Amino acid sequence: TDTTAPLGRLPFCELHVHIEGTLEPATIFELAAAKDIRLPYADEAELAALYDFSDLQSFLDLYYANMQVLQTEDDFEALGAAYLRRAGAAGVVHAEMFVDPQAHSVRGIPESVVLAGLHRAIAAVGAETGITASIIVCVLRDQPVDSAERMLDRVLESGFAIEGIGLDSAEVGYPPSLFRSVFERARAAGLHAVAHAGEEGPASYVWEALDVLGVERVDHGNRALDDAALVARLAADRIPLTLCPLSNVRLRVIPSIAEFPLRRMLDTGILVTINSDDPAYFGGYLDDNLRALRGAFDLGGDVLGLLARNSVEASFLAPARKHALL
Ligand code: HPA
Ligand code: ZN
Repeated sequence: TDTTAPLGRLPFCELHVHIEGTLEPATIFELAAAKDIRLPYADEAELAALYDFSDLQSFLDLYYANMQVLQTEDDFEALGAAYLRRAGAAGVVHAEMFVDPQAHSVRGIPESVVLAGLHRAIAAVGAETGITASIIVCVLRDQPVDSAERMLDRVLESGFAIEGIGLDSAEVGYPPSLFRSVFERARAAGLHAVAHAGEEGPASYVWEALDVLGVERVDHGNRALDDAALVARLAADRIPLTLCPLSNVRLRVIPSIAEFPLRRMLDTGILVTINSDDPAYFGGYLDDNLRALRGAFDLGGDVLGLLARNSVEASFLAPARKHALL
């Protein structure tokens, strides 16, 4: 299989990308140099050697450490703009981007600075290329509930447009039900709700995300395949899963791309989508993920077309825009 051929003009929505996970090693060094920040690595090669992860936590440690170079509204604008230009080149016409405000407020950077920068990026690259994007603020599940409540307060007070609330960071030991009150309040404020569940955690966390948090999509959700009743529920209610193949390989959720359960997922009738998660850390953007799948599974244009349509259907776009893209 030719793994480098272009993917055609299929319009994709990207629904699972952490904007801080698009921070490329070269950008880390550029920002550090500009701000006189001393990095604990001598050069890009030394940093790149640390991208050999053993599990989710080993990745998160580096992901949070590298964020120290993101400080100003301009930094967040540049981060968002670089991602949106790269995503557009990959065939993405709309992105729903995760951001982790608590990872920045803990360093003294207010939610309003982060959101202002990202909104400037969305406006600028949208005007340039036509790509659209929205923002989903994620709760760090390994931080106290009270920290999440205050993050939500400040995000809502900021007045910036927000598409939804999500749940991420270290999963095992932090079940979704811990954050019932935060999600209730976010949904009452009109936000969509999604949550990471079943990446390293059990199928029971996916049930909790659905039944306690009221999520409309599940991020990852790989472990749902362990539970036939859960598979039936996801398929019957058309709850999408936002799957991330290269992430799964690099965080050792699966041993290799050949074990990525694409066929099993598609055969269950669940609405599955393909996404990049943290593309600067896991070996690539949406097109790289699709090429990896095509290399492993000899995907025909029919499957790629289905994945593109699923991504549109699973998005939070207005019905008229979905119709235009389908
Ligand atoms: N899982 C959980 N939290 C995250 C991830 C992920 O893959 N990426 C960034 N935060
Ligand atoms: Zn993720």
